[in-house]
Order: sequence, then structure tokens, then C-alpha cells
Amino acid sequence: MIKRTYPRSRLRRTRAKGYLRDLIAENYLSTNDLIQPIFIADQSEAKVEIPSMPGIYRHNLESLYIETEELVNRGIKSVAIFPAIDSSKKDQKGSYAFDDKNIVCMALRGLADKFPEVIKIADVALDPFTDHGHDGVLLDGKVDNDQTLELLQDQALLLTQSGADVLAPSDMMDGRVRVIRDALESNGFVDTVILSYAAKYASSFYGPFREAVGSSANLGKASKKTYQMNFANLDEALHETAMDIEEGADIVMVKPGTAYLDVVHAIKSEFKIPTFVYQVSGEYSMLKLSIEKGWLDKDVMLESLLCCKRAGADAILTYAAKQIASELNS
Ligand code: PBG
Repeated sequence: MIKRTYPRSRLRRTRAKGYLRDLIAENYLSTNDLIQPIFIADQSEAKVEIPSMPGIYRHNLESLYIETEELVNRGIKSVAIFPAIDSSKKDQKGSYAFDDKNIVCMALRGLADKFPEVIKIADVALDPFTDHGHDGVLLDGKVDNDQTLELLQDQALLLTQSGADVLAPSDMMDGRVRVIRDALESNGFVDTVILSYAAKYASSFYGPFREAVGSSANLGKASKKTYQMNFANLDEALHETAMDIEEGADIVMVKPGTAYLDVVHAIKSEFKIPTFVYQVSGEYSMLKLSIEKGWLDKDVMLESLLCCKRAGADAILTYAAKQIASELNS
């Protein structure tokens, strides 16, 4: 061990000037690291702001294309689409998820046509479509794993056929990556990427998202603790991730982000596989609201994202992607 003693070693030397600090910086954030989640809805208004997510909107198709154009102009080249479905179309099994004229499929086809280069990520889970707000089918009041798998497989194929480049199973059923990978392979979709929400915790940080997609009213006081992970656990995250890789995941993800960076670091160190972080709705809203109130400086957003990279994230899903992109470009 080298002895580092003052004054031969003065760490402030390399901190003295901005350009010097840049030279010794160990991690960077660029628009190549960012994915913008976008909410879409069947609505006549072009865009409607989500009350609990300042600066974030539900878009209709026209507005989605305008938004995507703006993102591309700012250097953001990946989007993740989440639908808010009209409650009249929801049922116990989430049947509307399998209708190729639903808003997600239309959006994917439109994006594939207008923005072939943009990476289109589609969530595989039933919660936007079920009248109980859970990610799978209910059997005797419980979310049934194996019946849900059959539906997820169909949903995954439909999303791929509609134009998704990346499927992101966020449902946390056991075995979903395997059935989705098998379905893709046997239908000739050998290049479709699976980004698995490998370590997805049962978190209260998802509150604003559930409002945005309209699942919170349906879910009520019910929790997702029988399928999403206990936030007390880290070893279990490694177990989940190992299984998803073995089942065919190309990229794994940790969610939420900021409070879970130990999980990101552990997964990246253990598996050396592309690892993403989802800075979720509640994290975004906390920071954004404090910035708007003037309680925190706007740089706190960039700090929170760069810290995800320092922890080992290769890319970050963040609602702040578009806003931060302008700062990164300036
Ligand atoms: C649904 C899904 C959720 C999020 C992404 N996909 C919510 C949930 O599991 O209840 C949360 C994203 C966010 O909070 O930003 N399967």
C-alpha cells in the first residue's frame, strides 16, 4: 500500500481548475446513456400534463411523434412507451393488450415507420390493461404466475410484430424471460432484445407512474409484494438476475434507481453484462418538485444520474432525459 501523505499529496491540486477536474473525471453522462420514458393515451388533446410529474405529459399519437422528433434533435435516441388505457377497455385478463389496434401497437407501428433508427422499448406486463391494476391474471384473488406467462408470451410477440426493438418484461413473474425468448426464437424474431427488469422492487416510488397510466385507482390499497422484490434484499437480486440471464435476457435492469445503487453495483460487478437503471417516477418527482420550489438547485438532477453511472449503470431510463439533454448539449 502506497503511503499518501500531506503535503506531498494534496488532493486539492487536481481540483483547482474546471478543465483539470474534467481531465480526471472517472465517469461521464452523455445523451447516449439516456432513455426517455413516454406516456401515451387515446385522447383528443395533444398532451396533458401529469399532476404528480411536473413537466411530463400523456401524449396522443400526433404529439408522440413530435416529442420523438424533439428528442432525436437533442440526441436522445431511445424511448420507452407506456400506455394509459381508458377504463372502459380494461378487464380481468387485460384482453385489450392483445388487440393490435390498441394505442401501444399503433404507436410502435407509427414510430417504426417514422423513426426506424430510434430504439423503441415496450413494456411487457398487463397492469395498464387490467381492471384490478395487477401485472398478471388473478386466480382466487392471487396473481397466477403460469397463466400470466402464456399471456405475456402473446403480448411480447404482438409488441415485436408491431415494431418494438426491445422488450422489457416488468411484471416479475417467474420464468417470463424464458417463455418470451422461446416465443421470439420460434417465430423468427432472433434479433429482438430482452431488457429484463431483473431486480424490480415493490416500491412506493412508483406512485406517480401509477397515476400517469391510471392503474392506481384500480389497484387501490393492494400491493405487488407477492411478485415484486422485498427492498430488504440484495442476494435475491443477484439470484433474480442470474436466472434472467440464463433464460435469455440481453440487458438487465434495476428499479428504482437512486436508493438501490448498491444493487446496481453488485449486479454489474458480478455479471459484467449491460446493466440499466430506472430512475422511476417518484424519484423524478421528488427532485423536480424541489427544483421548481427553489429548494434544490437544478444540477441535482444531473448529479443523481451521474451517480447511477458511477454505480455501474450503462444507461438510465429517466423522465429527465429530454431536459438534461439540452443541458448536456449546451
Ligand atoms: C408496470 C410498471 C411500473 C413501472 C414501470 N412498469 C409500475 C409498477 O410496477 O407498479 C414504474 C415506473 C415508474 O415509477 O416510473 N409493470
